Amino acid sequence: MTMRALIAGCGGYLPERAVSNEELAREHGLDTTDAWIVERTGIRRRHIAAPGETASSMAAAAARRALERARLPAEAVDCVIVATATPDSAFPATAVRVQQHLGITRGFGFDVSAACTGFVYALGVADSLIRTGAARCALVIGAEVFSRIMDWTDRGTCVLFGDGAGAVVLVAGEGKGDASDRGILSTHLHSDGRHGDILYVDGGAGSNGACGKLRMAGKEVFRHAVSKLAAVVDEALAANGLGHEDVRWLVPHQANLRIIEAMGKKLRLPPERVVVTVDRHANTSAASIPLALAEADASGRLERGDLIVMEAIGGGLTWGAALARY
Ligand code: COA
Repeated sequence: MTMRALIAGCGGYLPERAVSNEELAREHGLDTTDAWIVERTGIRRRHIAAPGETASSMAAAAARRALERARLPAEAVDCVIVATATPDSAFPATAVRVQQHLGITRGFGFDVSAACTGFVYALGVADSLIRTGAARCALVIGAEVFSRIMDWTDRGTCVLFGDGAGAVVLVAGEGKGDASDRGILSTHLHSDGRHGDILYVDGGAGSNGACGKLRMAGKEVFRHAVSKLAAVVDEALAANGLGHEDVRWLVPHQANLRIIEAMGKKLRLPPERVVVTVDRHANTSAASIPLALAEADASGRLERGDLIVMEAIGGGLTWGAALARY
């Protein structure tokens, strides 16, 4: 018998304000067009947090919805992990603030920093904690307010990102220990600091005391994304003795429609089996996979036993994949 982390519920939260490409260009005086953004990225709009909204407030809203879907009270949660690159503050951890928002006073919470791969990393950590018995019910959340780290004069980056949060409730359950089990089957995490300067934030509490802005060499990131994501998905399938034909859903990090479509083709999945939100959410970094998962779950598309591939790449570089059976 093997302990497994089962997906009990998913939930998402998006700020109320949705901003189209045209509105964004007008608001910030950007030399860009809706046609350019749509053609290169597939992005049509994004949500932008209101002044009082933070990673922890959005994370808590997503978590409440995930707990509702799981039909579990907040008191059942003994571990909260928040993946974020835009925490409310250096400390307390965003996860501990989420505990407070939800009225959780037992167990533990902490943040994971792995940029856009953060949710896959957090899933890996939560899976390990559940497998070893250190936690029985974990809230795994991705929450980001990238609008606050944008350089609004840089049209090459500021059109690409959005704000939001997504949450997944994982509960301990027993499995046989093979790839037919439900729950997280495995996670595969990578990082390589040699590429740190192609996607980074140019400041921080411990360097210059500033919040910093996001900087990116888009073409370089694109090149790494296509090769590294394909390799890590193959690694995940091979580790479980599974092939492309076993995959029911691709729930990818939502950075660019062209990267997502390339991954769908690689897995030979029809477009309707690839969950896409980038057109409406833009890139919400660590929040993008749980937001996409929550959308697929809420629409009733996911069926019990479906094999889901999640993959992401982000600043670090970090990249990774997770396989889960719904
Ligand atoms: N509107 C109009 N023109 C723009 C623009 C915008 N919003 N942003 C950049 N451009 C211009 C550039 O200035 C450049 O002009 P130039 O040729 O006169 O110098 C031209 O478009 C091409 O720029 P380039 O960066 O080479 O474009 P690209 O085809 O690589 O597309 C991205 C840019 C960012 C869309 C693309 O590289 C990408 O998606 N990369 C991956 C990014 C990503 O996924 N990041 C997150 C990972 S977590």
